[in-house]
Amino acid sequence: MCGIIGYVGDKEAAPILLESLKKLEYRGYDSFGFATLYEGNICVHKDVGRISEHKNLNLPGKIGISHSRWATHGGVTKENSHPHMDCKNQIVVVHNGIVENYQELKKELLGRGHKFRSQTDTEVIAHLIEEDLGSGFEAAVKKALSRIEGRYALVVMEKGSDELIAVRRGSPLIIGAGEHENFVASDIPAFLERTRNVMYLDDNEMAVLTRTGVRFCNIQTGEETKKRIIRIEWDAEQAKKGDYPHFMLKEIMEQKETIMRAINQDEREIQNIADEINKAFGTFFVGCGTAGKVCLAGEYIFSKVAKKHVNFVVGSEFPNYHHFLKPRTLMITISQSGETADVLEAVEVAKKEGVKVISLVNVMGSTLDRVSDHTFLINAGPEKAVASTKATTAQLALVTLLAYASAGKLEEGKRLLMETASAVNDMLNPRYEAHIKKLAEKLKDEPNIYIIGRSLNFPIALESAIKIQEVSRIHAEGFAGGELKHGPLALIHNGTPCIALIANDEVKKDVISNAMEAKARGAYIIGISPESNEIFDYWIKVPDAGNASPIVNIIPVQILAYHLGVLKGLDPDYCVNLAKSVTVK
Ligand code: F6R
Repeated sequence: MCGIIGYVGDKEAAPILLESLKKLEYRGYDSFGFATLYEGNICVHKDVGRISEHKNLNLPGKIGISHSRWATHGGVTKENSHPHMDCKNQIVVVHNGIVENYQELKKELLGRGHKFRSQTDTEVIAHLIEEDLGSGFEAAVKKALSRIEGRYALVVMEKGSDELIAVRRGSPLIIGAGEHENFVASDIPAFLERTRNVMYLDDNEMAVLTRTGVRFCNIQTGEETKKRIIRIEWDAEQAKKGDYPHFMLKEIMEQKETIMRAINQDEREIQNIADEINKAFGTFFVGCGTAGKVCLAGEYIFSKVAKKHVNFVVGSEFPNYHHFLKPRTLMITISQSGETADVLEAVEVAKKEGVKVISLVNVMGSTLDRVSDHTFLINAGPEKAVASTKATTAQLALVTLLAYASAGKLEEGKRLLMETASAVNDMLNPRYEAHIKKLAEKLKDEPNIYIIGRSLNFPIALESAIKIQEVSRIHAEGFAGGELKHGPLALIHNGTPCIALIANDEVKKDVISNAMEAKARGAYIIGISPESNEIFDYWIKVPDAGNASPIVNIIPVQILAYHLGVLKGLDPDYCVNLAKSVTVK
């Protein structure tokens, strides 16, 4: 959602904050801001636009905070960019999350004579802290937070103090412990080039950072807490674009290795969880957006491979299902970031009913990783493009492996996925990409693209639509092939692009028939399939991957979406109006 980075140390803060914030731009990219403390005064710089295009930052001081924003409350303006200050410019705050009761707090504060400069919910925090500063910085922050409802991560600086105060409730904040310098950030890449030693803040925990150390306490009980330092082993290079023009293309190409990494799990753990699914009193797969489509694919894969009924519920709707939860129910969440608020809320609901939570997560140490009873890390490495690609196929691979284990065929599943990983490696070559780019050139000015699939590839049709929408801003919709004739056929006319996802399976003939129905109405048929067919106007060959066909079928659509975005002059890494990690409800 938004990106936060704070620094206190023996170096000039501004260049460090500027560089670090650029690494968090994937979290929020409509505006940004900085504040440093110099000779007892707060210096602020804010702007609208992309931080990656910002060159210099002339703010003095060795302590500072900064923020890249993805607007929720208040439009994209300089005034609404963070940091926000109190009336007397003594307190400066950066914040990720939503103050759910900000309207009543703002009314109260206005009634007591406070002057507001922005339309944000965040500004109430600065004014609340201002009211209690007499009792000390730390106490004033605690008091203010006791009034605030909602999930958040925030970092506060006070005029004249050499401390940064960071507090987390529901949104990620990580401390980077360096030598004579300390960092606090929403994500590790922000400071990874400066320190690999991290400490994860827990909910309701406060960290007080100075140049020489960090103290922790629980803001509700006031008790001091001890933290374990975790050493990050992955490389900062992994979170860079390298020679690729965009993260999205780099991450698509990384699928040569990531599918293999995802299935490289402890087989006993996979089998144990599969056995639990078999015994459970109902299993719910929960996720949002693309991860939700992987959950839906899980429903089909379990049905086909393991003859087992599991249920997919989208994260934000899960609370409506609480009546069906029993202590023997199992919840399996799927999330790249591990920070999606709707999924975290679903987990809270499930835990209240005593439900065991298993998660498939990419980000180690994320909230979901830590609140789950068991986590499988998908090991895809940092995914920075807003549109998920390599995490999606890694999740699909792991879900497929679990389904095979649930059917008592773990080895068979592993073999299938290893062969698929190797086929993906062969597929991702420059000629293949060029063939799809040629199609993108043909489609780039189309107003609509439709995608059909059946069975395992119905969820992939839905996911294909998400990819095309978010990266190219072309209206795209996915349907179950059989549904075309129940409405969407009315939208097909001469030349309408229709992508048919076809696997060598028992529904192959049916999807071809559905594509024919569209072709009879003038549709331009793009077949994604292991074999060509006379009805295709354009054929993109994929390997015959059997029950792993969702993995190979989504990859060409990812490449298509990428090139459509580029050809339309969009930045495929930063989808308009979207954020990578959706930490608000
Ligand atoms: C689309 C996309 C989103 C995410 C969704 C959930 O390409 O990436 O739809 O899948 O916001 O995010 P995670 O997986 O982090 O829970």
